[in-house]
Amino acid sequence: MHDTIGTPILVTGGAGYIGSHACKLLHEAGYRPIVYDNLVHGHRWAVRWGPLEVGDIRDRARLDAVFESHRPAAVMHFAAFCYVGESVTDPAKYYRNNVAGTLTLLEAMRDHGVAPFVFSSTCATYGVPRSERIAEDHPQNPINPYGASKLMVERMLADFDTAHGLRAIALRYFNAAGADPDAEIGEDHDPETHLIPLAIAAAAGTGPGLTVYGTDYDTPDGTCIRDYIHVADLAQAHLRALDALLGGAPSRVYNLGNGQGFSVREVIAATERVTGSSVPVEYGARRAGDPPRLVGDASRIRGELGWVPAYASLDAIIRTAWYWHRGPALERKEEH
Ligand SMILES: NC(=O)c1ccc[n+]([C@@H]2O[C@H](COP(=O)([O-])OP(=O)(O)OC[C@H]3O[C@@H](n4cnc5c(N)ncnc54)[C@H](O)[C@@H]3O)[C@@H](O)[C@H]2O)c1
Repeated sequence: MHDTIGTPILVTGGAGYIGSHACKLLHEAGYRPIVYDNLVHGHRWAVRWGPLEVGDIRDRARLDAVFESHRPAAVMHFAAFCYVGESVTDPAKYYRNNVAGTLTLLEAMRDHGVAPFVFSSTCATYGVPRSERIAEDHPQNPINPYGASKLMVERMLADFDTAHGLRAIALRYFNAAGADPDAEIGEDHDPETHLIPLAIAAAAGTGPGLTVYGTDYDTPDGTCIRDYIHVADLAQAHLRALDALLGGAPSRVYNLGNGQGFSVREVIAATERVTGSSVPVEYGARRAGDPPRLVGDASRIRGELGWVPAYASLDAIIRTAWYWHRGPALERKEEH
């Protein structure tokens, strides 16, 4: 068993939504999360469980200084741009940050002798699904530059393992949702594009009405079906992956979803139940590149790392997001 107490872990993008939740869990497990974030989308207030090093993953000199001063035992890599639509209109921005930035980080790790790496990959690497539930061996044919940028990193990781023994676990998340159950941190993207926070803002009257893109899909209620995974369950999986790698496990790839699909209409109904308010809705046309159904099969990580998501019901996921949005998130907005 490896020692966790005070072990420094570099968390790139740790001031962002998922990275900050991972930092909280790392801290609870005894690790020392060192956040490395350029704050383009992250928040200083979300860094609460270890030091913040402001820096860019494309800045090799800054990375060298941080590796020298903190000597991390491993890296969790969340830093990336993640707007699918923007990646289509500005692909260079995505390849420069997500691919070239990650390459700079991997080279720094190689040169500083830091081996384990946990990577935020995505179900967007699969492209259009060919099966009801997507397992890890499903073909990877991304249909946008965002998904392609993450697939390129997966390929680099395999090559760095072969050449330099850099062991990595790539976690392909489906739709991250919810907030810290203690409401200390939560989702605060700008612009927000995710369905649950948009539905909550519409219900609370703090945002515009919700647009539903397409009601004529080949699904039971005509709207798209997605797999929502609670951010605390994602964080838990990162911890399991880190422990496995520090314990000597080989490189692996795992899906992270809860295996259940929920339609847009089901999300709206659950948001109305949880908030007690109706969600004003407009119905729009389908968006290009939105598959009708994206649901993950996460049995591999359950079997190999013993990961069990704690949040299976949509209401439970939305409830944590609601507590965050109606409380701390609102107070923070009023302060600014
Ligand atoms: N949110 C989801 O549903 C989802 C799904 C699949 C995969 N992912 C992946 O998970 C990761 C985290 O997503 P999130 O929703 O927390 O996003 P986020 O935008 O909240 O967090 C990303 C963080 O990375 C930082 N960052 C970006 N570029 C950087 C750079 N060059 N140098 C240093 N820091 C930089 C940002 O400031 C931000 O704090 C991303 O890699 C994303 O692609 C997210």
